[in-house]
Amino acid sequence: MEIQPETPYPTDYNECGEVARAERDNNERPAIANLPESIKEYDTILIGYPIWWHTAPMIIGSFLESYDLTDKEVYPFTQSASMDTEQFDNSIAFVRENADGATVYDGLFARPSDTETIDGYLENNGLVQ
Ligand SMILES: Cc1cc2nc3c(=O)[nH]c(=O)nc-3n(C[C@H](O)[C@H](O)[C@H](O)COP(=O)(O)O)c2cc1C
Repeated sequence: MEIQPETPYPTDYNECGEVARAERDNNERPAIANLPESIKEYDTILIGYPIWWHTAPMIIGSFLESYDLTDKEVYPFTQSASMDTEQFDNSIAFVRENADGATVYDGLFARPSDTETIDGYLENNGLVQ
């Protein structure tokens, strides 16, 4: 599923950036328009997001904090413009802080075109047969 914000982000890149930066600076948890009532039928969650302002978008925290994630297995995946690994690490720390009770595995940081890395990650983590 694609997480949809209740208030859509501005389509203008700079305006979107300002909204996203304020959300991060204030550690906000923006409301989700299409939040599933329950995720209890899922054991494993692959959660993907773009790097925004050196970490994950705050709405990823909104999603994770909405559920009891006890015994869930979470695999974050992301990419960014710079592919700066420190920003990736920040985002994984953010996911871990917000995924209470879950096991958060080391994430995947790869561009969509890097199918070799993506396939390797899925295989190494037993996510494909
Ligand atoms: C609000 C916003 C903040 C962003 N912040 C960063 C950032 O801190 N570091 C970075 O490398 N890229 C940043 N980006 C770039 C996104 O990570 C990039 O757009 C995303 O991974 C999708 O890639 P694409 O635009 O090539 O589809 C930002 C993009 C937006 C819209």
